[in-house]
Order: sequence, then C-alpha cells, then structure tokens
Amino acid sequence: MKEQLAKIRAEALAALEEAKASADLDALRVKYLGKKGELTAVLKQMGKLSAEERPIMGQLANDVRAALESALESTSKKLEEAALELKLKAEVVDVTIPGKEVKIGHKHPMYIALDEIKDIFIGMGFTVLDGPEVELAELNFDRLNAEEGHPSRDWSDTFYFDEDSRVMLRSQTSPMQVRAMDSMELPIRIVAPGRVYRKDEVDATHSPMFHQVEGMVIDKGVTMADLKGTLNTVVEQLYGEGTKTRFRPHHFPFTEPSCEMDVQCHKCGGVGCPTCKGEGWIELLGAGMIHPRVLEMAGIDPEVYSGWAFGIGLERTAMRRFKIADLRLIFENDIRFLEQF
Ligand code: PHE
Repeated sequence: MKEQLAKIRAEALAALEEAKASADLDALRVKYLGKKGELTAVLKQMGKLSAEERPIMGQLANDVRAALESALESTSKKLEEAALELKLKAEVVDVTIPGKEVKIGHKHPMYIALDEIKDIFIGMGFTVLDGPEVELAELNFDRLNAEEGHPSRDWSDTFYFDEDSRVMLRSQTSPMQVRAMDSMELPIRIVAPGRVYRKDEVDATHSPMFHQVEGMVIDKGVTMADLKGTLNTVVEQLYGEGTKTRFRPHHFPFTEPSCEMDVQCHKCGGVGCPTCKGEGWIELLGAGMIHPRVLEMAGIDPEVYSGWAFGIGLERTAMRRFKIADLRLIFENDIRFLEQF
C-alpha cells in the first residue's frame, strides 16, 4: 500500500507538470482525488490493515492528498498567470503609432461668397429670409406683374407640377419680395438667398438649378440713388475698393425703371478681353425700382412708399470672386477642386 501511495503521488505530480489548461487540471483532480479516484480506491482498502498500520497509512494517504491538492492549486495559478500574460501581449496598444487623419470639410466656394454677401447686408441692417423652392405661380408671376402669356411663364422655360401651371419650382427668388411684403411690417430691408430652377441645358454658364440672392428695400422716400449707392458699396466690399460699376436700362415686369448692373472686368480693367468677351464689363445683377402695381397688389400705397429690389446670381458671383471659369465645377463636388478655396 505504501508503494501504491508513492506511485500515485509520483504519477500525479508528473501529470500536473504536463498540464496545459485548467480543463486538464479538472481531469486530474477527478482521476486522483475524485470519489472513484485512485487515492480513494487505496483508502477503501484501509479496512484490511492491522490496527498499528492503519494510522500510519492514514497519515501517509493524507500527506499524498495534501501534496496533490497544493500542487493542483499552484499549477492552476501558474496557468492563469500564463493565460493573462498571453492576453496582455495580444492586446498591446502601440501609443506611438500616428493617429488616422480626420478629414474635415470646409465651406463650398459658393457659400463663402454667400456668407460674404449676407455679412455685408446684415451690416447694413437687412434681415435674411428663407423661402420655399416649390412656389405658387401666383407669387412667382402674377403678384410680380408678369401676367398670363408672359414669355417666362412658358412650359418650355419653367418646371410646373400641374396641368394648370399653378404650382412650380420657383424660377427666381423674386417671389420672396411678395412674401416679405405680405408678412412683414414696413419699412422692409431683406435679402433672400436660395435655389431657383429653369429649363436650361447644362453648359459652362448654365444649369437647370442655380442660386440667386434677392434683395429688397421698401420705405418712404426711397429712390434710384439709394439703389445705386447701396449696390456700389456692396460691390466695393465684395471685389475691392474702387471697383467700377455700370447701370444699363433693362426690363423686368416687376420693376420700373429696371436696370442691369455690370462690374468692370477684373481681368482687363475695362479695355476688353476674352473673359469679358471684349466688352470690358461683366453683367452681375438685375435690379430696379419696385413697380407701383406690385406694391398695390401687396396693399402698400405707392404714393407713400417706394422701394428697390435686385436679384444677383450666386454662382456667377462666386466664379468672379474666385476666378472659376466653368459653372459645372461648382456642382461636380470634385474634392480636388473644392479643396483649393
Ligand atoms: N428676378 C430677376 C431675374 O431672375 C432679377 C431681378 C430681381 C430684377 C429683382 C429686378 C429686381 O432675372
């Protein structure tokens, strides 16, 4: 029996040395110390021993059990530590590796130009308005004195939603004049930027969708001199002091008199070059004194109040501001282009 116990002890300890996982330890515990284990089997034979031998063997068996238990314990600890070590090694983070570059976009050139325009007008006491792109023909045309049959109302020029040509994508920001007159107290000073839509083919200077900024002032005693003074100031702030402008007579149904404003060509200074097509001037915006009938339709007495309005193309302004040659670049969202501003 003594030999048996010694053998169990030696075998078990050797097996423990080989153990690689905690599952191995569980199996060894069952094999040697379990109810049907080898040590238990030896102990069951104690009855056959003499009274003198029994305590000695009992002591010996207890020693073996204690040795195995402590060996199991320490091996289990060792395995745990090894596993932790491995895990830490696998999860190591190299804090010296440079981080991933976060790409932050920036303002689109057209919105840079728009923000400049807004800032200039806000500085002069104007309010910025936002309005719907789906508009009633009543506001886009009728209330702006463009009656039935006016060429701009044609289906070949305008996107309508219904057979009766009553709901449309606005073709200009000018309906915002009417919306302001209908909803605001006099005097009024507003600018209203936004998208407008026309049935144009895409080319270097045209797009079926583009942006305008509408501007309008209504007060007592407002004259064409105010229009010219204000727009000249705006142009100098946008394009630099001393930038010359020129006002040409034009026609819009909702202004009388109407004009177009040109800026002296930034390329040739007015001599004439390919950029200004030899003109020396570049057309920038349409403007005029608000037609008395438009004021009347809004319930404003044209004998007491007068006003002026303008509409400026935003893409064109940005193209001039940043010397961009092709309108399509503004809409293509090519990062290589946009990153330059
Ligand atoms: N709405 C006109 C256009 O789109 C521009 C304009 C606005 C003209 C205001 C006069 C007054 O061409």
